Amino acid sequence: METYYPPSDKSITIRALLLGSIADGRTVIKRPLICDDTVAAINCLKVLGIRFKISEDNISVEGCGLRGLNPPLKALNAGEAGAVARLLAGLLAGQTFPSKITGAPSLRRRPMGRVAKPLNLMGASLKTYSGKLPLEIKSASLKGIKYTMPVASAQVKSAILLAGLYADGMTVIKEIIPSRDHTERLLKYFGARLSRHGRSIMLKPGNLKGRNLSIPGDISAAAPFIAAALLSGRKLLVKNVGLNPTRMGMIRTLKKMGAVFKTTVKIASPDPMGDLLVLPSKINGAIISEREVPAMIDELPLLAVIAAAIGEKTLIKGVAELRHKESDRIKSTMSMLESLGARAIYREGALEIQGQQRFRDGKVNTFKDHRIAMAAAVASTIAEGHVKIRNPNCVNKSYPGFWKDFGKIFLCLQRI
Ligand code: S3P
Repeated sequence: METYYPPSDKSITIRALLLGSIADGRTVIKRPLICDDTVAAINCLKVLGIRFKISEDNISVEGCGLRGLNPPLKALNAGEAGAVARLLAGLLAGQTFPSKITGAPSLRRRPMGRVAKPLNLMGASLKTYSGKLPLEIKSASLKGIKYTMPVASAQVKSAILLAGLYADGMTVIKEIIPSRDHTERLLKYFGARLSRHGRSIMLKPGNLKGRNLSIPGDISAAAPFIAAALLSGRKLLVKNVGLNPTRMGMIRTLKKMGAVFKTTVKIASPDPMGDLLVLPSKINGAIISEREVPAMIDELPLLAVIAAAIGEKTLIKGVAELRHKESDRIKSTMSMLESLGARAIYREGALEIQGQQRFRDGKVNTFKDHRIAMAAAVASTIAEGHVKIRNPNCVNKSYPGFWKDFGKIFLCLQRI
């Protein structure tokens, strides 16, 4: 049996960097992820005056407290990281100085109105360019609001919560469909007064205290390895991976489709972490409801590859949000399948995929989207013939060691 150690979680690393920066005192982040998106977060925070000590396995952050950030002398560049741009918007909305957030061309195409709207309701003065970056933020005093999320988005929710730390009064967010809850867990861990009642999250303003924490492995980074193991019918042990239920949608869905996993939780808080054993199993098609989609939003291109290769028909409902990722992932997922001789149909917000399709050789356009490149890598393991992947280095956004790890593990899986 092959053992695989995934890289650390991107979402949690970004949040730990941001919260550590505005906490009182030092935060030590053990096993942080270093990739393009987390480096973008560090660079933005440096412009705001935060000092970091980066060593092999740790990042130490000298927190400056809620009000200790320096006015930036230039625009903050979030690179290609949607989470960095949107979470920073929340953090900067209540400051006593103006700021500007910009990003790489791919990020400048993604929607920012969804974050500007609730922040402006809180009293922020945030201007987008036709709903896109750059974001111009003026100094403002904020008030708590009650806000029902129109789309499930952890980034928008997190921006509101970060702004809520600076607000006068309580901030209440109602989620119709829950999205990943790393921000809530970390805010509590850093001492914020946050509670959840049913679908509502309540946050009272107040200071944070620097903490030490270890970042679990990223389940989204592990997902291509899990998919390749299932498709090749091999056992794979994924070690020290995040097992947060709000990120386990693909695992729950695959279980529903017949896959067998064994999970062992080793650490429960702030984020659950443990081992996941993938066992050889027969997989069938399934109907997946939109409620499950946010918990596997980044894994849908992979699920499309699995669904096309196995069982009967799979229907994944409520996937329209995929249009707003690093690429239009409805278009890029369908194009990836088509380049390899398979296909999916997109109708009324749902992806319909027939099973038992054969993958052949072909050239995949990744649209410079890391998740498409990784899903194409999985497709290549079952394709008859050679698969060429354009712009493979786009994986550096979240997983710089992907090709090395995939080659190593996949060759091992083939060999067994
Ligand atoms: C993320 C949330 C998701 C996800 C993205 C990372 C986060 O985006 O697709 O890769 O770190 O909060 P949305 O919150 O926009 O759905």
